[in-house]
Amino acid sequence: VTPARSLAFAAAAVGLALSLAPAARAQSARPGHFPGDDCARCHSTQGWERLRAAVSGFEHGATGFPLRGAHAALTCDRCHDGARGARGRSACATCHADPHRGEQGEDCARCHDERSFAMKDALLRHRETRFPLTGAHALVDCGACHLDRAAGRFAGVPTECLGCHLRDYQATTSPNHVASGFSTRCDDCHRPTAWRAAKIFHDRFFPLTGAHATTPCASCHQNGRYAGTPTDCYACHQADYAATTNPVHASAGFGTTCRDCHSTSAWQPSTFDHERFFPISSGPHRRACTDCHLTSSYASFDCLHCHTKSDADHDHLGKVSGYVYDNAACYRCHPRGTH
Ligand code: HEC
Ligand code: HEC
Ligand code: HEC
Ligand code: HEC
Ligand code: HEC
Ligand code: HEC
Ligand code: HEC
Ligand code: HEC
Ligand code: HEC
Ligand code: HEC
Ligand code: HEC
Ligand code: HEC
Ligand code: HEC
Repeated sequence: VTPARSLAFAAAAVGLALSLAPAARAQSARPGHFPGDDCARCHSTQGWERLRAAVSGFEHGATGFPLRGAHAALTCDRCHDGARGARGRSACATCHADPHRGEQGEDCARCHDERSFAMKDALLRHRETRFPLTGAHALVDCGACHLDRAAGRFAGVPTECLGCHLRDYQATTSPNHVASGFSTRCDDCHRPTAWRAAKIFHDRFFPLTGAHATTPCASCHQNGRYAGTPTDCYACHQADYAATTNPVHASAGFGTTCRDCHSTSAWQPSTFDHERFFPISSGPHRRACTDCHLTSSYASFDCLHCHTKSDADHDHLGKVSGYVYDNAACYRCHPRGTH
């Protein structure tokens, strides 16, 4: 404490400060401090550390503490207010009580500026926490999650979905999560967009492709049962297989592994790759199925009704050893339908 300061306080204490013009003691109190200026331009008569309310023409930025936002509108004496004196008190917390009780640290400017004490860039800053606000969460009022918001408390909020959504889980009816034994790790199946958008997570169990993408849930999950739903095509499409007429699958000798010949898009056309057996996608053999498969069984076929005996004999007899006029023999020597 300098003698000058003690004097100022002592004077104030005995009510003398008002009668003494600050200018009178100027040079001894602050050497080099605005020399030649009118001390009373800034100083109030209530003490050196107290400024007048209004001082014109002072560029505050020069002090290293620019007056921004709400500060710009304040009169000088709001900060230079006597005993508290503003010098050396540029940290926010020296003038503003910390409602967070130190929980958010000393660096108030991380979340606040002089414009307001609402959290600046709240959504952006929130991304730096372990819980970025996405989907519905970005639209929710801060206080819906930060229940002690009014008291300035933001820490200690659960980050696990269940921590906030236990009651939603217990209240589910369609599907009833408790009865279905769903895990309580909601994010296995949900994103914070809407509870009803769980469909995309179906891929983990059974991708809903083709026609299945538009099939109502209940067509596959009857009576609200989810776990244990069969994944084998035949388990759900047995009746379709039995009802086939063109071709009749059972008599055609087709297996029940539908995915060998079908995708989930539609039954017709089949994805069956005939070229593996006999090329029919181009050339003279690009014909209707029934032009070769004369019976209901696809295992049987007929070449001879097109390739007459006289033509064939003419082409082979005397030229090709081992020739016989027989379907299996034709196919054995001409598996690709060419010579
Ligand atoms: C442009 C405004 C301005 C002018 C002009 C000015 N001062 Fe100051 N003075 C201040 C401010 C601001 C402080 C710091 C108050 C605080 O800490 O809040 C101060 C502080 C002081 C103090 C307190 C010293 C301390 O360390 O506590 C004294 C004494 C003082 N001034 C004397 C003078 C004298 C003498 C003059 C005239 C020659 C003068 N001032 C002119 C603004 C001014
Ligand atoms: C929002 C608070 C606030 C307001 C309002 C304010 N000041 Fe300041 N002022 C400060 C702070 C804080 C410092 C100290 C900066 C530092 O120590 O780096 C300061 C420093 C100063 C100084 C330098 C003092 C010295 O010792 O060198 C002057 C001069 C000053 N202010 C004048 C004014 C005047 C004139 C006004 C009114 C037009 C004013 N201030 C309004 C907060 C304020
Ligand atoms: C030297 C004291 C001082 C310092 C340092 C200071 N302020 Fe202020 N600030 C005030 C005063 C005085 C007010 C007027 C309202 C009040 O009394 O709370 C104010 C008002 C505000 C307001 C407007 C409050 C409202 O409710 O509208 C905001 C925001 C603010 N300050 C933010 C800050 C931030 C951020 C910092 C740090 C970068 C800071 N202040 C540093 C003194 C200060
Ligand atoms: C990690 C971010 C963060 C930090 C750091 C932080 N705050 Fe806050 N502060 C907040 C949030 C969030 C709010 C509430 C905003 C809302 O409710 O809209 C808040 C609100 C406030 C309020 C207004 C309280 C009210 O009741 O309206 C003040 C004053 C405040 N903070 C001061 C401080 C001070 C002083 C510091 C530094 C010591 C600080 N804050 C540091 C996030 C922070
Ligand atoms: C849907 C819930 C939810 C909403 C809405 C929400 N928060 Fe949070 N917030 C959290 C969770 C959870 C955490 C904890 C993150 C962590 O521990 O990393 C958190 C952390 C914070 C923190 C850091 C606290 C600390 O000590 O780590 C601040 C500050 C904060 N939120 C401010 C806000 C503000 C401001 C809003 C409104 C714009 C808001 N939050 C909206 C859930 C939410
Ligand atoms: C800190 C609390 C908190 C946490 C943690 C949390 N939420 Fe939320 N969530 C809310 C609040 C509050 C709402 C606003 C609607 C409400 O009250 O249900 C909400 C809304 C939702 C919604 C929209 C509900 C609707 O009706 O449209 C979904 C979906 C959601 N959350 C999913 C999740 C998921 C998934 C997680 C985990 C990754 C999660 N939440 C974690 C608090 C939380
Ligand atoms: C195994 C996957 C799975 C898990 C884990 C899961 N859900 Fe769901 N949830 C679903 C499916 C599927 C739906 C139906 C979505 C639809 O209809 O589009 C659903 C729907 C919902 C619905 C709306 C239906 C209703 O009856 O209200 C809510 C609310 C819900 N879930 C909350 C939760 C919560 C909270 C958790 C975590 C505690 C959770 N879920 C965990 C799969 C899951
Ligand atoms: C085309 C049939 C089909 C459709 C349509 C379908 N699912 Fe599934 N779902 C399955 C199969 C198959 C499984 C795998 C079951 C398994 O592996 O245990 C499954 C698994 C699930 C599971 C996980 C059950 C468990 O094991 O915990 C949930 C939840 C589920 N489905 C919900 C739905 C919802 C909600 C819809 C409508 C949006 C839907 N499903 C549409 C066939 C279907
Ligand atoms: C859990 C039962 C289930 C399983 C497993 C299943 N499906 Fe489906 N599928 C359905 C239901 C229900 C429909 C809706 C139309 C219907 O009732 O046939 C459907 C529709 C289809 C359709 C469209 C039918 C049409 O009329 O357009 C095709 C194609 C299909 N499934 C192929 C398959 C194939 C291939 C597999 C195996 C990879 C398969 N499905 C596995 C239940 C299932
Ligand atoms: C070896 C191949 C093969 C297998 C395996 C196969 N299909 Fe087919 N399926 C076909 C061919 C080829 C067609 C005729 C496609 C066309 O007309 O484009 C067909 C057509 C169908 C049709 C529509 C024609 C009709 O008569 O209704 C249905 C339905 C069908 N298949 C169901 C099934 C089911 C269900 C399974 C499994 C249980 C199955 N298929 C397995 C080859 C197969
Ligand atoms: C030009 C003659 C020809 C035409 C046209 C033809 N096929 Fe074939 N197909 C064959 C021959 C040859 C084989 C091989 C027979 C074998 O390996 O037993 C065969 C094999 C098959 C097989 C496999 C039978 C098995 O044993 O697994 C199926 C299924 C089949 N054809 C279905 C069709 C369908 C469906 C069509 C119409 C889209 C068709 N075919 C058109 C000649 C033909
Ligand atoms: C629906 C009538 C038809 C059936 C069935 C048929 N073909 Fe052909 N095939 C033709 C015609 C037309 C040609 C072109 C004219 C020709 O060379 O005789 C041809 C050409 C050929 C050729 C000569 C191709 C070339 O490169 O010159 C061979 C080899 C052949 N067929 C083999 C077969 C075999 C093996 C079968 C039975 C699996 C078969 N065809 C069934 C109509 C048929
Ligand atoms: C033992 C093997 C063998 C058998 C069995 C056989 N072929 Fe050939 N085929 C050949 C050979 C080798 C040629 C080429 C002869 C040549 O170019 O001189 C040929 C040529 C052909 C040609 C082409 C003639 C031309 O225009 O150049 C046709 C068509 C044909 N065969 C169809 C058949 C049919 C249909 C059958 C069944 C009735 C059959 N082949 C049975 C080996 C065979």
